[in-house]
Amino acid sequence: MAELIAFFSRRDENYVNGMLKKLDIGNTEAAARIIQELTGGELFQIEQMQAYSKDYNECIAQARADQKRDARPELKTWPVSLGPYDVVYLGYPNYWGTMPMAVFTFLEHFDFSGKTIRPFCTHEGSGMGGSISDIRKLCPGARVETGLSIRGGSAGRSKKDIEKWIGKER
Ligand SMILES: Cc1cc2nc3c(=O)[nH]c(=O)nc-3n(C[C@H](O)[C@H](O)[C@H](O)COP(=O)(O)O)c2cc1C
Repeated sequence: MAELIAFFSRRDENYVNGMLKKLDIGNTEAAARIIQELTGGELFQIEQMQAYSKDYNECIAQARADQKRDARPELKTWPVSLGPYDVVYLGYPNYWGTMPMAVFTFLEHFDFSGKTIRPFCTHEGSGMGGSISDIRKLCPGARVETGLSIRGGSAGRSKKDIEKWIGKER
């Protein structure tokens, strides 16, 4: 069974357990890599043509503005096709209560009918927020599972939780 692990993640300055830190690998990327290791699936990073600022506060403002105007930021690259994949692990940070708008761009681009989407979300306290119902709206033909929320600062140490989640969903 072919599996895709599509994720959005931002390196650089970020809040981790109440402190600003520069991350070399984003939290969601750390979780995505663990899923890759456990499933052997294919990794794909959802990247905006114009990335948000490396500066945390600027990024916060940009992402907020994009959400307010319901933007669909253009993406840098795309997977050629979703055809080969039955299961799509979809990873993203919680941005203002849901997914970054680039993930909306990604989900709208493809027909997910008949596919299973397994969302995983890193956050600093608000869990999955409204993301699951947003994914269901964007991908009406897909089977969208409840998903896994991971505290951002512990993403790199969440292998056990991820393993349990993957095992349960399979
Ligand atoms: C623009 C922006 C908005 C955020 N909004 C929320 C939020 O509403 N709730 C929350 O719990 N965390 C929020 N966070 C924290 C991130 O979800 C968290 O740090 C996440 O792990 C970052 O993932 P990444 O390193 O893969 O980009 C926000 C972070 C940013 C940069």
